Amino acid sequence: MSKILVTGGAGFIGSNFVRLMLARGEHQIVNLDALTYAGNLENLGDVESDPNYAFVRADISDRKAVEGVFESHKPDCVVHFAAESHVDRSVLDATAFVTTNVLGTQVLLDVSRGVGVSRFVHVSTDEVYGSLGPTGLFTEESPLQPNSPYSASKTGSDLLVRAAFHTHKFPALITRCSNNYGPFQFPEKLIPLMIANALEGKPLPVYGDGKNVRDWIYVEDHCDAIARVLEKGRDGEVYNIGGNEERENIWVVKKILELLGKSEDLIQYVTDRPGHDRRYAIDGSKIERELGWKPKHDFASGLEATVQWYLDNREWWERVRSGAYRDYYERQYGNR
Ligand code: NAD
Ligand code: DAU
Repeated sequence: MSKILVTGGAGFIGSNFVRLMLARGEHQIVNLDALTYAGNLENLGDVESDPNYAFVRADISDRKAVEGVFESHKPDCVVHFAAESHVDRSVLDATAFVTTNVLGTQVLLDVSRGVGVSRFVHVSTDEVYGSLGPTGLFTEESPLQPNSPYSASKTGSDLLVRAAFHTHKFPALITRCSNNYGPFQFPEKLIPLMIANALEGKPLPVYGDGKNVRDWIYVEDHCDAIARVLEKGRDGEVYNIGGNEERENIWVVKKILELLGKSEDLIQYVTDRPGHDRRYAIDGSKIERELGWKPKHDFASGLEATVQWYLDNREWWERVRSGAYRDYYERQYGNR
């Protein structure tokens, strides 16, 4: 049974990945997470006593702490999710994005290489490719043209991973996925924010004309794809991961209101996000051709299940929306 060090396992995608891997029963998991505002151990309450699971609180930019975790737990491989992940926060202040996403990734690469892990999967994003016009798809060969401080910091981390492979023959791989949705997503991102606001009868803030397009993938599909890359991917390669479900934001918002039986009067068009990328769309043919992977969930059933999850787990998101989140919300939406 191999041991996987998962960074950022208390966040949205990381916690879904930890649960999926434990359910498969083939791996031990060490979850290394700093528990920032986005990290929540409640997300893994159901698996915390699993004998194959351990949690360590540490910051990936703290080299000594990371070395300590590797010495105590001796992982065989690493799946690296930990990051500052929200574009709007990076517009307000990019500092933590550079520290965690760039410096933190280099620390992990150095320590992982020092102990000789057999595999390092770096979880990245389609946002590194920038923005598309009305047609075309991002392929793994598309130029890297990040537009936000968040995507620039993720691009920086991708290039450091690429350099570790080319310079040191370090066995690293990169995945670049489109927009995830599903259980345990922090309600600052479009889908959970709109569900929670609608349930509380608050305005639904749609940026600009609402016609920006994202490709939506159910989080379980993304996690399954990462597991496939970990098991079967080729060192040094990049794999795009997408859901084949492009939608305009306004379509998504109206669908959520329809599923909740709420009025479209709640929609409020607000000042656009600065530098807002117009459209993302993924060519996922490489991972399908080389690793035999494609998404299983369609957006209609995935969105319905997600809305139901937020209805069933109101206490979770109400707790998450209290305290420090309220200060962020005021800064982000107060003057729009
Ligand atoms: P998230 O914000 O929900 O979770 C991030 C996790 O990282 C949290 O648990 C947080 O505590 C932890 N973390 C942050 N800084 C840390 C540090 N310095 N040291 C240790 N832990 C730290 O993010 P998410 O949406 O689950 O995204 C996970 C990864 O997937 C990110 O790398 C993101 O760029 C990438 N990604 C996300 C999406 C998406 O749609 N959410 C799509 C493609 C790729
Ligand atoms: O594409 C992958 C990326 O998807 C990930 O790398 C990021 O970590 C993740 O946050 C996500 O980035 P986006 O910026 O696309 O996601 P977000 O949920 O913030 O916004 C989705 C779209 O909805 C985007 O066009 C902006 C718009 N939006 C968002 C919010 C929060 C609104 O119109 N109103 C809002 O209040």
